[in-house]
Amino acid sequence: MPIVTVTNMFPEAALEKLGSHCDLRTNQTEIPPTAEDLKRYASESAVIVTYLSDKINRDIIDCAENLRLIANYGAGFNNIDVAHAAKKGVWVTNTPGVLHETTADLTWAMILGAARRIVPAERFTRENRFKGWQAKMYLGGDVYCKTLGIIGCGEIGSAVARRASGFNMRVLYCNRNRLPAEKEKALNAVYVSLEELLRQSDFVSVHAPLTEQTQHMIGKEQFLMMKPTAYFIHTARGKVVDDKALVEALKEEKIAGAALDVYENEPALTEGMAELENLMLLPHIGSASHETRDKMADLVVDNVLDALAGKTPRCLVPSWKK
Ligand code: DGY
Repeated sequence: MPIVTVTNMFPEAALEKLGSHCDLRTNQTEIPPTAEDLKRYASESAVIVTYLSDKINRDIIDCAENLRLIANYGAGFNNIDVAHAAKKGVWVTNTPGVLHETTADLTWAMILGAARRIVPAERFTRENRFKGWQAKMYLGGDVYCKTLGIIGCGEIGSAVARRASGFNMRVLYCNRNRLPAEKEKALNAVYVSLEELLRQSDFVSVHAPLTEQTQHMIGKEQFLMMKPTAYFIHTARGKVVDDKALVEALKEEKIAGAALDVYENEPALTEGMAELENLMLLPHIGSASHETRDKMADLVVDNVLDALAGKTPRCLVPSWKK
C-alpha cells in the first residue's frame, strides 16, 4: 500500500478515513518535524500531509522519489516551493473555500478587542485591581460608524467587509485587481489606493497573501500614513508586515493599537512586542474553530484520496503549473 505521512497532529476522524486506503504514518505529537524528518518522509511517502510550519523547499522535494502529492493542511501554501514541486511533477494542494468565515470572525474579535482594550482590561479585573467605576478607565476607540480599510479583498477580506455593515461602517479596500461592480456593491466597499486607505481608515485589516510583491508591503512609511487614532489588524502572513516598524509605531504612538495573529518570524515574537499594552498577540488561530478545522481536514482527505486513485487532486493550488 502507498505510504501517506501526516507530519503533525491531525483530526482522528480524518486519519480514520485515510487509514484503510494507505500505509498511514503519523506524528500525533506537538513536536514539529525537523528538516531531516521532512526529507525522510518525502523520500518514503507517496503523499505527505503538511502544516504551514513545515518548510517544503527544493532540498526536501529533491529527496522525493515516489512523492505524488504534498497536501497542505491550510489555505495558504507559501511554505512550499510550488514551482519546484510542479517541475518534479509533485502535486500541491491546499484547503480553499472553507476557512474564510472563521478567519473573518477572528478578525472581528481582534478589531473589537484592540479598540476596546479587552485583553488588558480583562487582566486588570482578573488581578483583582478593579476597585470601582472610573470615568477614564480603559478608554478605547469606537468601532460603530468608523472607516474600515481592507488590504486584500479575496475570500477572507470580503467576509470581513460583509460583517462591517452591522457596524454601519464605511468600507474601503485595495486589491491587486479591482472587484467587479456588483461585488463592490454587495460589499458596500470603495476601491482606493493603499495610501488613501491608510490615510482614511480607522481600522486597517490585512488579508493579502504573501508574495514577492506583498513582502513588507506595510512598513515604517505606511504606519506613518495611518491616523494616530487608528488600529492595525493582521491575520494574513507575517512577512507581509515589517514587525520592527510596527513595534516602533506602537511605542511612539504613531497609531493607537494593533492586533496580530501572525508574525514576521513566526513563532518568534519581535523584540519589544510582548511589553506593549496596545498590542494584542494571538498564536495564529485564524481558522481555529472545531467546525472549520474538520472541514479543512476533510478537504485534505479528499485530495489525498484523489491522488492515490491517480486523479488530479481537486484543490491543486492555482500557481501549480507543470
Ligand atoms: C491558512 O490556512 O492559511 C491559515 O493561516 C491556517 O490557519
